[in-house]
Amino acid sequence: MAQRFSRIGVLDSGIGGLSVLRYIHRMLPNHPTLYFADQAHLPYGPRPAAETRAYVTAITRFLLERGAAVIVLACNAASAASLYDLRRQHPDIPFVGMEPAVKPAAAATQTGVIGVLTTRTTANGALYRRTLERHAGRARVLTQIAPELVTIAESGSPNTPENRTIIRRYVEPLVEAGADQIVLACTHFPFLSETIQEIAGTNVTLIDPAPAVARQVARVWPKGLMPSSAPNTYYTSGDPASFQMMLKRLIGVEAHAGYAHPG
Ligand code: DGL
Repeated sequence: MAQRFSRIGVLDSGIGGLSVLRYIHRMLPNHPTLYFADQAHLPYGPRPAAETRAYVTAITRFLLERGAAVIVLACNAASAASLYDLRRQHPDIPFVGMEPAVKPAAAATQTGVIGVLTTRTTANGALYRRTLERHAGRARVLTQIAPELVTIAESGSPNTPENRTIIRRYVEPLVEAGADQIVLACTHFPFLSETIQEIAGTNVTLIDPAPAVARQVARVWPKGLMPSSAPNTYYTSGDPASFQMMLKRLIGVEAHAGYAHPG
């Protein structure tokens, strides 16, 4: 049964969306959030888009039933697979999606070379194609599909020697090709940014679109709708205990996480 809690629904395949959620909490501290981590189906990136779309559609229904007034697809792969579709299915609900931040990278590059670290679904999606057509301008864009980085971010240990070697394998070729901007086009990657920055060096700027996404959430919140006073709520389709641990570790939030498996 639908409950009118008037809150912000946020979804991701796992902990990645927390890199967006932390900015939503900062920007809209009085708007309760409802976060869903689909860890049973992680990673989304290598899956066919239709499969990811089915998961995201079910989670969207779950969030709407619990009073989400705005839905944030805090996942580039989920956005690539489902954003246009969900907007068609729910014309009254504002959806905010992630799109690779090529525009600010193209504006800032001095070398004319931009690296984009991402996953397969995002790289192959129409959303990314459109973003490149509109915003790449004269910049040369190097798209680096880095699926293991999602698993490394989920593990919470980017600095083991093995994991650093893997991260280096993806980042170094971009820097060697002259990239001075690296777009983090997967919401998991900001949790690796210290390691990525160390490998890339100080001449490279990492671009995380999360603050801009949080500003967009504030813009699309329905005018005149009072946010409810519900607490921030967390669900995972994986293991709630380990999700809770990551919540504390990554964004400093101590909260209970529930288990749910929509669909
Ligand atoms: N956080 C998701 C994204 O932004 C991770 C993708 C995945 O699960 O592979 O694309």
